[in-house]
Amino acid sequence: MHNKGFIFDLDGVIVDTAKYHYLAWKHLADELGIPFTKEQNEQFKGVSRKRCLEILLEWGNMKVPQAQFDAWLAEKNEDYLGYIDKMTEDEVLTDVPKVLNFLKEHKIPMGLGSASKNARPILKKVGLIPYFNTIVDGTQVSKAKPDPEVFLIAARDLKLLPEQCIVFEDAIAGIEAANIAGMTSVGIGDKDVLSDARYVFKDFTEIDLDFIKELAEL
Ligand code: G6P
Ligand code: MG
Repeated sequence: MHNKGFIFDLDGVIVDTAKYHYLAWKHLADELGIPFTKEQNEQFKGVSRKRCLEILLEWGNMKVPQAQFDAWLAEKNEDYLGYIDKMTEDEVLTDVPKVLNFLKEHKIPMGLGSASKNARPILKKVGLIPYFNTIVDGTQVSKAKPDPEVFLIAARDLKLLPEQCIVFEDAIAGIEAANIAGMTSVGIGDKDVLSDARYVFKDFTEIDLDFIKELAEL
């Protein structure tokens, strides 16, 4: 039996879908006449689709009836899915397969913990479904990160205690969620931004398999 398990966020850790979210939000924002920059898109990382639209409308000082809100939400997602549909295995971020394959070879339990309701179709597109013992996505959680719900469900599915789990995250809220859950947090991104993470790496190219071995207690 293994003592440790690994839980991965999807967007910004395994694949770079932020650029597609940006294009789809930008398209809608342009339509509504609300300025929307790449910097603003940063604030949407790890944030649910519904909350993103609420924020966008707040920026535009717009209040709309529920039916209109739902229609825009659906429009953004359809646009986004147009990009997802074209994704291939090449879009898995560099050296992510190196780590996933290593963990798989050693039969270390792996889970996905994402706020995205599109997590499954994305994983399918990039061919990574078989790596995960559990996939917990935006369709299963009621409380958004930094609430630890998504990671706690993944740990439960993996039959591990929170302290046995290592979480890879690119969003501040995700690192916070992992820390609140009592898991070991590994930040992927900027050290200054993810300063609450136990460890931080710019990306997976900086991650050594010896480090993974140590984390996994192999
Ligand atoms: C991830 C991304 C967010 C996105 C959210 C919901 O957390 O980082 O930018 O808004 O998922 O994604 P969805 O695919 O359900 O619209
Ligand atoms: Mg993310």
